[in-house]
Amino acid sequence: MPKIGIVGSGNVGATTALYVAQLELGDVALIDIVEGVPQGKALDMLEAGPVLGFDSHLEGSSDFAALDGSDIVVVTAGLARKPGMDRLDLLKKNAEIITSVTENIVRYAPNSQILMVSNPLDVMTYIALKISGFGRKRVYGQAGVLDCARYRSFVAMELGVSMEDTSAIILGGHGDTMVPLPRYTTVAGIPITELIAQDRIDAIVQRARDGGAEIVNLLKTGSAYYAPAAAVAQMVESVIKDKNRLLPASVLLEGEYGLHNVCIGVPVKLGANGIEEIYELNLTPEEKNALHTSAGVYRQSLGELGY
Ligand code: 2OP
Repeated sequence: MPKIGIVGSGNVGATTALYVAQLELGDVALIDIVEGVPQGKALDMLEAGPVLGFDSHLEGSSDFAALDGSDIVVVTAGLARKPGMDRLDLLKKNAEIITSVTENIVRYAPNSQILMVSNPLDVMTYIALKISGFGRKRVYGQAGVLDCARYRSFVAMELGVSMEDTSAIILGGHGDTMVPLPRYTTVAGIPITELIAQDRIDAIVQRARDGGAEIVNLLKTGSAYYAPAAAVAQMVESVIKDKNRLLPASVLLEGEYGLHNVCIGVPVKLGANGIEEIYELNLTPEEKNALHTSAGVYRQSLGELGY
């Protein structure tokens, strides 16, 4: 059985644990420094196994040693956004947390891959990459799959078509500067530019951009977790089953798209070895500009942290 480590047993971590267990992608080690919470949640989920019909084992622990033997470690630890709080506000606090979590992953799961989920996502991915020394194939961030899921659901609702038939790719950072590509957004292969009027596409793109904040404003305490966890589970599945899904992920760019030394969302092939390939699309000057603007925001944050 493969093993999936999950650091952070809050809403995103715990929901991810349940999804990956239900998909029987592997055994799960759920880690949190808050004694009792990961143990309680993991046991509660394990006890759902007979009813839901899964045999993945779930273990909760407050000791990072439980990550031992993990094939992939999902990092959800850190503070969540509160209303009115920008993702970048989380920067300094979460940078400290992610540094320490990454050191523990290196110690206890040295052969794993790291799937970053904590915000600000693109910055935290970079920190985990630098601290771990695992290399860019093995350290990547989830944001684009979630952003695409939101964007796709708005397209499906606009047209009254199945969510399943929608397909999209979003570039850039997880934030206000994300770069959706309407010409590469399709319903059953048909570009939405042929199906939806431009002003409605613009509105859908804006709602996708604000998708995280929309949920934060509704919940008031805490941020989204069902769709984020579903997005993480899809990436874990692509790695564990070596599916080579073509997905957006935040990865270190080394010259692709004319960008260096920054992690940002681009299309990748995700398989057993992690990032198997990075795809470089032909962008229009406006799209390229938007991607560079987005990367610039995160490069600046990294600079503020001394990277
Ligand atoms: C989201 O987009 C908070 O980044 C998180 O829901």
